[in-house]
Amino acid sequence: MKKDLLESARQHGTPLFILDHNKLRENYRRFKKCLPRVQCYYAVKANSHPEIIKTLFNEGCSFDVASYNEFMQIHKYVRGFERKDKEFFIWDKIIFSNTIKDWRTLRKIKRYRPLVTYDNTDELKKIKKHCASAGLVLRLKVPDTGSQVEMSSKFGAEPGDAHHLIRQAFEAGMVVEGLSFHVGSQCTNFDNYTAALAITSDIFHEARRKGYNLNIVDIGGGFPVPYDDQVPKFEELAAIIDAECERLFPKDIEIIAEPGRFMVATAAMLITEIIGKARREGKVFYHINDGVYQTFSGVVYDHWIPNFRSLRRGKEEVCAVVGPTCDSFDKISLSVQLPGNLDIGDYLYTENIGAYSTASSTTFNGFDGAKIIHQY
Ligand SMILES: Cc1ncc(COP(=O)(O)O)c(C=O)c1O
Repeated sequence: MKKDLLESARQHGTPLFILDHNKLRENYRRFKKCLPRVQCYYAVKANSHPEIIKTLFNEGCSFDVASYNEFMQIHKYVRGFERKDKEFFIWDKIIFSNTIKDWRTLRKIKRYRPLVTYDNTDELKKIKKHCASAGLVLRLKVPDTGSQVEMSSKFGAEPGDAHHLIRQAFEAGMVVEGLSFHVGSQCTNFDNYTAALAITSDIFHEARRKGYNLNIVDIGGGFPVPYDDQVPKFEELAAIIDAECERLFPKDIEIIAEPGRFMVATAAMLITEIIGKARREGKVFYHINDGVYQTFSGVVYDHWIPNFRSLRRGKEEVCAVVGPTCDSFDKISLSVQLPGNLDIGDYLYTENIGAYSTASSTTFNGFDGAKIIHQY
């Protein structure tokens, strides 16, 4: 592998982001194999590269979008379906799962009769006013204990408010199609899923008893990626979810999920180059040509701890790896085990960097960010 990486770096230059589409397909198929009942709506925010969308669409994947631009990015694939049964195909392929939407966005997507989430009365009124054609999914607040990125501090209705919000929607002449939650991203505490499914099931059945015929349960994202060997296996989680869904919900409802990280994280790696070396207070600092303002933006936004390996061997010590900008904040990691004898021009590589990386990369200080190449 190291020989291939070296060749790629020499051929294409660095920083180089290598996207492996076989791995993308493998991740999608693994998800479907472990959770055959669950329709997968890839969370485009994790990495919206058009080639990723294309590969996943061709596998049969649906999509979770957060903005008008993401909606249109997917809608162009659905366009061909429109003549037959527009609403059905759009819901089948796209869920707009950002609980708060600008009214201008709602107006623009109204003509597509979208499926959208909400979690409060003001949002409901806004959807009614600007996009009354929408189908609704009520997002619930659920435990996200121990997840790498928390969600419940910003999103989700309190379970105690759920019935009021469902009733309000129906009274306003809209239809609540189902319930959703998100247990937090990179969720390694599987109890979050069991707790969330139990909360959802209580609300689901009570709503049905009251005559509100909900049909969708959306279990969100959060499916963990093996960034290190402490992360429990997806198969273990899938078995729990599968059993709980079987136990808690009728067979004829739709269960959907919005995996982001799970699909793309392991499908990309990044090769960077050492452009400067300094010893600061006794520690070797490698200054590389990518940083927290570019492909390592997940260190800031995603609370991600990146891994680094060297293409060249040497006696290892604790080193710092920092980015190329003039900002002292641009430190990727102050504690990485790497050979201390690397030189300017040597390469490092980072695995599992496909999610929340290029998606939030900026051009701060005039740096372009990584070149992206594809392996099909
Ligand atoms: C509503 C929603 N769904 C799905 C996701 C994807 O989550 P993950 O990447 O943990 O699977 C997110 C991530 O922010 C989200 O906000």
